[in-house]
Amino acid sequence: MYAIPFLDLPPLRGASGTLRLPGSKSISNRVLLLAALAAGTTELRGLLDSDDTRVMLAALRTLGCGVESDGETCRVEGLGGRLRVHEAALFLGNAGTAMRPLAATLAVLAATQGGRFELAGVPRMHERPIADLVDALRPLGCTVEDLGTPGYPPLRVSGAAGGRLHLDAPIRVRGDVSSQFLTALLLALPLVADAQDVVVEVDGPLISQPYIAITLNLLARFGIAVAHEGWQRFTIPRGSRYASPGTLHVEGDASSASYFVALGALAAGGGAPLRIEGVGLDSIQGDIAFVDAARAMGAQVDGGPGWLAVRRGRWPLAAITRDCTDIPDAAMTLAVMALYADGPTRLTGIASWRVKETDRIAAMAAELRKVGATVVEGPDFIEIAPPASSVHWRSAAIATYDDHRMAMCLSLAAFNPLAGARCALRILDPGCVAKTFPDYFETLLGVASADPADVPVITIDGPTASGKGTLAAAVAAALGYALLDSGALYRATALAATWDGIDPDDEPALALAAATLDLRFGQGGEAGRTWLRGREVTEDLRAEATGLLASRVSALPAVRQALHGLQLAFRRAPGLVADGRDMGTVVFPDAALKVFLTASAAERAARRHKQLISKGISANLDGLRQDLEARDARDRQRTVAPLVPAKDALELDNSQLSIEQSVQQVLGWWQERGPLAAVAAPSC
Ligand code: DC
Repeated sequence: MYAIPFLDLPPLRGASGTLRLPGSKSISNRVLLLAALAAGTTELRGLLDSDDTRVMLAALRTLGCGVESDGETCRVEGLGGRLRVHEAALFLGNAGTAMRPLAATLAVLAATQGGRFELAGVPRMHERPIADLVDALRPLGCTVEDLGTPGYPPLRVSGAAGGRLHLDAPIRVRGDVSSQFLTALLLALPLVADAQDVVVEVDGPLISQPYIAITLNLLARFGIAVAHEGWQRFTIPRGSRYASPGTLHVEGDASSASYFVALGALAAGGGAPLRIEGVGLDSIQGDIAFVDAARAMGAQVDGGPGWLAVRRGRWPLAAITRDCTDIPDAAMTLAVMALYADGPTRLTGIASWRVKETDRIAAMAAELRKVGATVVEGPDFIEIAPPASSVHWRSAAIATYDDHRMAMCLSLAAFNPLAGARCALRILDPGCVAKTFPDYFETLLGVASADPADVPVITIDGPTASGKGTLAAAVAAALGYALLDSGALYRATALAATWDGIDPDDEPALALAAATLDLRFGQGGEAGRTWLRGREVTEDLRAEATGLLASRVSALPAVRQALHGLQLAFRRAPGLVADGRDMGTVVFPDAALKVFLTASAAERAARRHKQLISKGISANLDGLRQDLEARDARDRQRTVAPLVPAKDALELDNSQLSIEQSVQQVLGWWQERGPLAAVAAPSC
């Protein structure tokens, strides 16, 4: 996950391969609540692990449910419809799928079993309406108090043990602002439908009906057969009791699939389709209907149970006009596909966008305009005309409004080379995707391809002990870029040569060892660790003997040549920070920023001295300094890959700087020289 202030995406051109979707948010939070209310233990497989499910899990734990998770399977020991905890304050973040059903459930349980519960969220949650649900609960006899603005969370629900609810008359709820209010009632009311049928009637139109279908489908799996007439009148049968289905598999998220269906339609041209695993055409999620909309725009989609395969069909995409009431979330993806269409696309029936994580109509209009589209917005529609021609595309810094879908959707604008442009895109606060798809950008970049020339590179070079490795790692982390520690490749070659007993002067044999290095650098939780031929060598690579031999083998032209291609392969989207001797001069001469890091020999000697002492190794400061000076002289004079700054390198003397100050200096240069420096300019 990219927990950084911004992520710069280079222009992207293609997509291929296979990806797996995270679990469905809508299904995950519903089944978590159902499992918590049922009697017995439920094993949930494929559950989404995201902000929205974490707040639900935390709430259920607070309510006394036993919840255990091993990453693959989540085991929920249900309450069997009986409150274990009668007083609690729950924080539900910005998860509507937690707030609404928990409010209804706890209101009903408190009114009959006694209790007092407060439900709150982030400030945006307190701007998201809940009045329609409260208005349905109060006539039943539930006590619901507004703790802030009436009609919005935070709320308090309370009641005394032995209370009775008025269940004789149909319970009426509006369904035109959010279908989650009806879902909330349908999940809560089976708890009190022991003695009589309970009827819920929708007042006026119902939006997002497919989400109600998910609710009914999942209720059925937990033993509650709700009948409905025309999606307007729902009957929960008398004697309903939640029963655990034992094990339940959560489908991949169909809304999340929409980004990759769109990606396939844009960028999986020619060869193999983009394969999406976790959700198929048989999905119970309404957003699977997005596939039809994408087909209407030109996507070629095949699918089976649990998989989809998408290719580009028509190009440019066909502009469409569509009522999106049935796919409110996935419809956002159509708005971005519209950038690649042959005319204006008009999406209607999207008034609910205004009350989601942000006002999505306003947000979408503002951000699509930034990349060059012409957008008209209305209370319940949006119309997007693509940039008039390739020169009308703009590089832009995309604001994401703490809305995961804004970040995911707008990332697709980085494929503008397919429309003849070549604009980089800055996604602000990319970590907001954690709401439903924490690894979205890693997944996207795992299947997307860029022209290497478009992938920005920062090179960092400098004399030994200047701190270039530390600086490079910190800059890479700050930008979300890959890191190439080229010295590690020479060290690994030296280690492999030692293992194989290769003579240090046998250049061809060493070059072969370099060309066939089976080296793996750890990613994510394993970052900083390295494996050679499947064996961890993190420590061995740093050993003094390895360094000495690396210094010898790195002076051999055939070895340098053998490692050249391997080093180039590190240049992958979103970008690369490469540290080492010839990164800016030989391997990446077109790097957008080249830093030559120096520090006085005295300062470097002092740093190394401190480092050695902290490891319990005795060292002599003067001796270290003389060693460094001698090594500098040797390094500068050697004929193969001498230590010289690239002509266009910026020198950074960090003798007086902290690591943080050096990082900030390099990031400052990057703002001025990197591909997004163009954001300040009128066009890219
Ligand atoms: O940076 P380091 O100590 O890990 O590098 C190991 C050796 O490899 C060192 O002698 C410098 C050399 N080297 C090189 O010649 N070219 C590079 N791009 C990186 C390192």
